[in-house]
Amino acid sequence: MPGPQRLPSALLALVAQAVAVVAVGGLAIALHHLAPLPFWIVLAGIVAALLSRRLRLPSWWQAINLAFPPLLGLALQSSIDPAWYLAGFLLLALTSSGVIRTRVPLYLSSPRAAEELAARLPAHAHLLDLGCGLGGPLARLQRLRPDASLEGVEAAPLNWLISRLRLGRRARVHLGSLWDADLSACDVVYAYLSPAPMARLWEKARGEMRPGSLFISNTFAVPGVAPDEEVELNDLSHARLLIWRMR
Ligand SMILES: C[S@@+](CC[C@H](N)C(=O)[O-])C[C@H]1O[C@@H](n2cnc3c(N)ncnc32)[C@H](O)[C@@H]1O
Repeated sequence: MPGPQRLPSALLALVAQAVAVVAVGGLAIALHHLAPLPFWIVLAGIVAALLSRRLRLPSWWQAINLAFPPLLGLALQSSIDPAWYLAGFLLLALTSSGVIRTRVPLYLSSPRAAEELAARLPAHAHLLDLGCGLGGPLARLQRLRPDASLEGVEAAPLNWLISRLRLGRRARVHLGSLWDADLSACDVVYAYLSPAPMARLWEKARGEMRPGSLFISNTFAVPGVAPDEEVELNDLSHARLLIWRMR
């Protein structure tokens, strides 16, 4: 029988939150004379966090479920125009709607990452950024290595559009899935994703990349495969580049 961990974490977190709100909401209606509303709201957060823990969700989901009812209560009391919430939702949907499926959120490489990539690119090399986000690394590489041929692939429509507008004709940026990208013509493949896709991505890289080409992951390791080189970026997020030379 499938255990709870086989369901997506986001779905389990939603269930925990819903159960907590319904249960504590029922108690609050029945016993409202015993405590003020903020007490019940905080209690709902605590119950949601405990349920998330019971479902063995990662600690950040527990923290989100703990904070959600109080933040919702504050938001409902504030005089913020509801249009801002709609705008925020649309922005999230356009930049990160795939995150539940891909488990890869949007965060950005530091300028140091692009500098280290630039230093490792062979002359006239072809580099592909898998999940190129807002195009920051490609834009910096354009400036640092005008000889290189640069390409990106991005699944989120707004991120892709921003990259496209930012990079113009100087780099090719495709809207689509990185799993459909052909890695066989790349001298360097760069990925700044999350732990979730790394094992599968390594299999794809091994199957498609040429001997001597470089597979470079910002921060996230390939399970069970030591990199040939590690470069500390000494940036704010203490990121590092993990570099594999394909054989
Ligand atoms: C952590 S961001 C990195 C952005 C950029 N490479 C950088 O270093 O600044 C990861 C990006 O990969 C995109 N992404 C995640 N899964 C993807 C997939 N399967 N195909 C294409 N893009 C994907 C996300 O939308 C996000 O923009």
